[in-house]
Amino acid sequence: MKWCLKLLLAVPLLAACAHTAVPTTPAKPGPLGNTAAPRRAWWKEVVVYQVYPRSFQDSDNNGVGDIRGIISRLDYIKSLGVNVVWLNPVYQSPNDDAGYDISDYRAIMSEMGSMADFDALLRGLHQRGIKLVMDLVVNHTSDEHSWFQQSRSSRNNPYRDYYHWWPAEKGTPAKRWSFFDEEGSAWRFDSTTSAYYLHYFSRKQPDLKWENPRVRQEIYDIMRFWFEKGVDGFRMDVIPFISKDTTFPPIQAKNPPEYIAYYANGPRLHEYLREMNREVLSKYDVMTVGEAGGVAVEDALKFIADDRHELQTFFQFEVVDHWGRREDNFLYPDSTDRSLPELKGIFTKWDSVVAQDGWGTVFLGNHDQSRMVSRYGNDSPQHRKTSAKMLHTLLLTMRATPYIYNGDEIGMANIRFTDIRDYRDLMTINFYQRLAREGGDLREFLTAQAEVSRDNGRTPMQWSADSNAGFTGGIPWIRINLDYRTVNVAAAERDTSSVLHYFRRMIQLRKSEPVLVYGRYQLLDRENPDVFAYTRSLNGRTLMVALSFSPAGGRTALPTGYTAGRTLMNNLAESPVQGGQLLLRPYQAVVLELKQDVAGRVNGQGGN
Ligand code: GLC
Repeated sequence: MKWCLKLLLAVPLLAACAHTAVPTTPAKPGPLGNTAAPRRAWWKEVVVYQVYPRSFQDSDNNGVGDIRGIISRLDYIKSLGVNVVWLNPVYQSPNDDAGYDISDYRAIMSEMGSMADFDALLRGLHQRGIKLVMDLVVNHTSDEHSWFQQSRSSRNNPYRDYYHWWPAEKGTPAKRWSFFDEEGSAWRFDSTTSAYYLHYFSRKQPDLKWENPRVRQEIYDIMRFWFEKGVDGFRMDVIPFISKDTTFPPIQAKNPPEYIAYYANGPRLHEYLREMNREVLSKYDVMTVGEAGGVAVEDALKFIADDRHELQTFFQFEVVDHWGRREDNFLYPDSTDRSLPELKGIFTKWDSVVAQDGWGTVFLGNHDQSRMVSRYGNDSPQHRKTSAKMLHTLLLTMRATPYIYNGDEIGMANIRFTDIRDYRDLMTINFYQRLAREGGDLREFLTAQAEVSRDNGRTPMQWSADSNAGFTGGIPWIRINLDYRTVNVAAAERDTSSVLHYFRRMIQLRKSEPVLVYGRYQLLDRENPDVFAYTRSLNGRTLMVALSFSPAGGRTALPTGYTAGRTLMNNLAESPVQGGQLLLRPYQAVVLELKQDVAGRVNGQGGN
């Protein structure tokens, strides 16, 4: 009990000691194998809520969300039950890439407010027991950062070596692809010093040269600056891209997966991450999550295993890349690859990493993705609510720290722009211009972007049915989804069957059931094309999660040797349990207790 009390004080969110203790010793394996649970840590037990500040709440009616706006919504954020807020960049920036092009890492963008506003936000979150994770964007800066201004001014400038330059007299550098550039190349010729600079993203986002130890020290200082303020962690933007082979040899790559994997496996990457950990991260009790596109499952533990002392967690992109984007061009959807068995396979493969060491994350939406309900669920009026609840059930029952993107808690859907003038994202706009120049099929492109563009996830939060959805009294920086008249927070608060209420209950369930955080995950019924079903087991307690991903519902069976106990969560009124079978309605989701039947116990297969 004393142990339990201590834990409760140290980790208030796990108010669950009374229910099931988290084991420190391995349990006897049962049929669903209750093996050792991972080591506890606060950042494994939290639920993270991502706030996209431009679109969250505008406080001064200039049409852009800001820090004071977020402060005015802190009680709402608290009411969700989340423990951490991840805030997209609010640093000074010319906003070529919506804040991911930083011109001063120690200043707040004027559109977003002041440093005093930021300090008030941090205080307000901490007073409510919520931690704050900031975005660390240090693969590149803005070209308007003073370092780059200096660097480009002359070949002898002391900042020259802060960036990657290729002198023109060496000829044209070997091909590197840019994710955003109008012409596609990641090298940009700069006539001032007759040299090319490298920019994996837009030409206004030159890549920093981590090979220069002075650059690394600058970055560590920036990190300390924010940690000393009390920030609780960093989400690290495209962090695997930081190390480069500075001889820039030609590479064989035909499509994004190939060159992304190349970018993500630079020769000194792990050396830099270990140094960053040693010099900064290890000195603070903070959380870290890397954005790790291009990292293969076989390499995952190099980043996150406990004894590597690099990062704690990262986002893998196999799930979001699998479901609905063409492999050779992420700007187009792929309708042929939406196979649920494959999706289950990806989740299961990544869980097997965590079963050994390290810790995972799970997300289905963020500011770079279209809306989760439109993509993995079904945003038709008939299925929007049920399928959004089903997806929240998935997010909150995996063995990984869940990240929920703002707006998903009310089931916000894709806006599906049809006119290029509505877009604000440089990725869409630049590619459109390129296609127009090259005589490509613009109509096909716009149809594709309506489904997959990043702007789908960036439209303003829908707070109420008032004008501009209660987001701003001015002209919003990007159009608001017209479904706000029905899909909004105020309406969801009034409707006890809303996605919002369900989401809050799901969070409470995760907090009260350590098995949902630490329990072993086991996939059931792998080939079932309609149902994603799995168990989570810890200390002899086994829960089953069954999720219909289909407008036709689906059917699956309880695992052999088990009968259904209490239903802990159900997104519909009807129970799917029919003896040993589950008959799920369209997009139905349930979390059930499983009881081992007598035969199983007699055979001595029980957990402890
Ligand atoms: C990351 C960010 C994305 C940004 C890019 C360049 O992928 O999430 O929004 O455009 O990095 O910084």
